[in-house]
Amino acid sequence: MATSQASPSPAPLDLVIFGGVGDLSVRKLLPALYMAHLHNTLPEQTHIHALGRQAWDRGAFLHFIEDKVRGFIGASAYRDDVWTSFVRRLSYVSVDATNPADYASLKAEMQPGADRVYYLATAPSLFVGICANLQGADLIDQRARVVLEKPLGHDLASARQINHDVGQYFQEQQIFRIDHYLGKETVQNLMVLRFGNSIFEPLWRSPYIKSVQITVAESVGVGSRAGFYDGTGAMRDMIQNHLLQLLCIVAMEPPVSLDPDAVRDEKLKVLRSLRPMAVTDVARDTVRGQYTAGASNGEAAPGYLQEDNIPPDTTTETFVALKAHINNWRWANVPFFLRTGKRMAARQSEIVIEFADLPFTIFGDSAHKSVNRLMIRLQPEEHIQLQMMAKEPGSGMKLRPVKLDLDLQTAFAERRAEAYERLLIDVIKGRLTHFMRRDELEAAWAWVEPIINGWHQLGEKPRPYTAGSWGPAASSALMAREGSAWLEEA
Ligand code: BG6
Repeated sequence: MATSQASPSPAPLDLVIFGGVGDLSVRKLLPALYMAHLHNTLPEQTHIHALGRQAWDRGAFLHFIEDKVRGFIGASAYRDDVWTSFVRRLSYVSVDATNPADYASLKAEMQPGADRVYYLATAPSLFVGICANLQGADLIDQRARVVLEKPLGHDLASARQINHDVGQYFQEQQIFRIDHYLGKETVQNLMVLRFGNSIFEPLWRSPYIKSVQITVAESVGVGSRAGFYDGTGAMRDMIQNHLLQLLCIVAMEPPVSLDPDAVRDEKLKVLRSLRPMAVTDVARDTVRGQYTAGASNGEAAPGYLQEDNIPPDTTTETFVALKAHINNWRWANVPFFLRTGKRMAARQSEIVIEFADLPFTIFGDSAHKSVNRLMIRLQPEEHIQLQMMAKEPGSGMKLRPVKLDLDLQTAFAERRAEAYERLLIDVIKGRLTHFMRRDELEAAWAWVEPIINGWHQLGEKPRPYTAGSWGPAASSALMAREGSAWLEEA
């Protein structure tokens, strides 16, 4: 296995994970840190402290991570010797995050003079208490950083409260609000596509772009996260953060530099330009759905209401489609269609830029009206394709769409890190560009909240859709009204 040439930072590092044996840590954070360790991108003196409430000794902890974490490391990346040296970096600290007395045991584990990163992979209701207890134990200094995992609030007021509370203990430049979509390679590549090339910019606007579609479709259901998900729903879980962040990157003006605030200023302008939705807009331009029993990946799948620990009468949505507008010169009259859902027909995340129709065609019946589209596929594979029209070989002038394919996987032999690994390294290096600033988060909530309130006012129940489908029919109707259709190529 090739190791990267990145030079490790000399300062020792204590990385503390609250919720260290929870779901996110097991599935994403510890495997991402293993990968960083494998590729030698962690500072040499990095200690990782996983915190949990269980009264485990080291033996019990090691048994747990052998059992639970190892399976999330890809077979091609796993090496016994690397795992053994990775595990040496890890310690388990039994801490009740709400108990100030427990922080003494954490302090005893920390290296003197080290940089400190606190990753709060817990319910947000614990954030302020954790910060206060860290402060009480004198564990926060100017160099300390805190990573806040979503959900960052349930609505605008609670998001403001979290920001205010955490702001009592950490300066804004010490706060890393993570949205792992910003760590995905193709999402970062979208910025390069837009601002590292000159050919798209003149066309990247109304009227040359007809519409934009952003889909994040998942084939999985709610899984074991019923407790969290049922109180959250697709709007808060996905649209408020991941999809709006993607929309920002598509729609923002060129930032003056890659400086974190330069980028975040432009994203903020987009969020503030989103046209607010009145109740009538909510009724017309949004669709909520909830999956019913069907099939997924060739197997029978239960409906949302039959999933474990889901109340049988809940009206939480597992699907949202909506049409958004951005009130500025660049995007006047260009609809942005956003769609996300669980138990959909395929795991498929992509952004489709639909360019304007031909004003007139000289090719008669064989010409398509809507021809050029740029497809940026995030998942399952990463590629960028530009659909063009070409002449079919043979006599006559028959046209057929073909794709110019930017196959990044083939173009670059380099390893592609997972989003969490990339973002963790950004935190360690203090790079804020791909993290959300306080005002961005609040602007996103300010736009989303009236939609959720509108659903309540309208008494909107989610529309049923069969597990394994592309969502309720109303979602296609939303597009059809604008003369568009969701692109649903497998
Ligand atoms: C998380 C959501 O933020 O993103 C999950 O809480 C969702 O519900 C996940 O499954 C999707 O992430 P990815 O990277 O698998 O598309």
